[in-house]
Amino acid sequence: MNLILRPLQATAQELATTLAVERAAFGRDDEADLVQRLREAGDSRAEWVAEADGGIVGHVLYSPVRIEHGGDGEPLGLAPVGVLPAWQRRGIGHALIEASLGALREAGRHSLVVVLGEPGYYTRFGFAPAARSGLHDTYDGGDAFMAQALRPGGLDGRHGRVDYAPAFDLLT
Ligand SMILES: CC(C)(COP(=O)(O)OP(=O)(O)OC[C@H]1O[C@@H](n2cnc3c(N)ncnc32)[C@H](O)[C@@H]1OP(=O)(O)O)[C@@H](O)C(=O)NCCC(=O)NCCS
Repeated sequence: MNLILRPLQATAQELATTLAVERAAFGRDDEADLVQRLREAGDSRAEWVAEADGGIVGHVLYSPVRIEHGGDGEPLGLAPVGVLPAWQRRGIGHALIEASLGALREAGRHSLVVVLGEPGYYTRFGFAPAARSGLHDTYDGGDAFMAQALRPGGLDGRHGRVDYAPAFDLLT
């Protein structure tokens, strides 16, 4: 497999293809609709794609979150992330998340990233339960709500409720 991990190019074709990837990955329209709403609201901060054998097979988006208390440097939320069903469980999601987080760390603009997902999966990328840092989500995610700093001290002084971008309000 020839795998390329790179930022999304905002061409009409790639914007549409990545919506189709999210739709197929989740088997429903909700996450693709969420991506569309985030883009329209100007709340897509970073989008990366995985290209395998010449076609886009994976996509991840980061959007700003609001934290009740503290800190410089806009915090982000990772969601959604999807890989086409036929390409899942081959390390593509892993590579995509790792590459995009690496680029965000290197850019140094954002303080931290949160994610709501399977702890067994996301702890592989350096995420830890956000509650340990005094953060909680609005979905009662418990240990499934995780955070990591994107730069030294990125989690310091931040605590309280974390609100995702308004586009998430419509997600069930
Ligand atoms: C989650 C997703 C992006 C992972 O991408 P992927 O390319 O399939 O994953 P990888 O091959 O990198 O990693 C596979 C590993 O993750 C685990 N894994 C994959 N999806 C998982 C999930 N939803 N829950 C728990 N573990 C999961 C697998 O068990 C596997 O573990 P192993 O290496 O111990 O066998 C992809 O499976 C997907 O699009 N799923 C549907 C959409 C979705 O649920 N997105 C995430 C919402 S938080």
